[in-house]
Amino acid sequence: MKRVEVHHDTAFVRDLFEEMSSTYGVMNSVTSFGFSERWRCEAVKRLSLREGGRVCDLMCGMGESWKYLRHHHPQFSRLTGVDFSPCMCAGAQKKAMKFKGAKVEVLTADVLTTLPPDAPFDAVVCTFGLKTLDEKGLKALAVMLKRLLKARGAFSFVEISIPAAPALRAPYLFYLNRIIPILGRLFLGNPDNYRMLGAYTREFQNCRMFQHILQEEGFQVEYRDLFFGCASLLHGTSLG
Ligand SMILES: C[S@@+](CC[C@H](N)C(=O)[O-])C[C@H]1O[C@@H](n2cnc3c(N)ncnc32)[C@H](O)[C@@H]1O
Repeated sequence: MKRVEVHHDTAFVRDLFEEMSSTYGVMNSVTSFGFSERWRCEAVKRLSLREGGRVCDLMCGMGESWKYLRHHHPQFSRLTGVDFSPCMCAGAQKKAMKFKGAKVEVLTADVLTTLPPDAPFDAVVCTFGLKTLDEKGLKALAVMLKRLLKARGAFSFVEISIPAAPALRAPYLFYLNRIIPILGRLFLGNPDNYRMLGAYTREFQNCRMFQHILQEEGFQVEYRDLFFGCASLLHGTSLG
């Protein structure tokens, strides 16, 4: 099997998503057998949001989770999506224009270093954005989350994970390492990019490390495995 080395520097990760942006949507739904949609929905549902609340979607991609936000929290007044890939942001911008009733803004920026001008928010959501962050990046994100959220603000993060049970782990890794790159080629993407996403997921494992980092920063956090650990979810609140 072709070995790939993961890199966490901003330019490398941004270029990876820039290149994948044209195939990302369809690949994501097809390769997860629709589970990625369920998991986004689950993450968004976990947020608690007051009437007129303001939401920030970190590493928003092309706004893949916004339909769930509209469905589960129609009472939100304002949404800010942040992503550092201009191509992903262009897709999100198109979606933003179709929103009625709520103000939606898309900011092209690094979430680890840029505080959106309309912070703090009542809620922060992030779907499938964690895996490309190493420990240093996760710590920077936890610090940024403190600045992003109002007191007792809600957050929810979900990420693809490696299941612990050996019976599921082996076929899952085979699928991630071997099958997904082939599907990437079939859908006219670059198989190396999809191989790289598998390598990030293997290194990330699950949301446990981020849970501990958030707890050290004083957040109240709950951890949940989704579908036997094929994804993991963190949700909670900032302290008042
Ligand atoms: C796997 S995609 C997830 C997109 C979307 N949230 C979803 O549910 O499909 C990860 C996204 O995170 C963005 N990203 C990764 N690191 C980032 C960072 N430090 N700052 C801003 N965006 C980042 C990438 O550009 C990419 O669009």
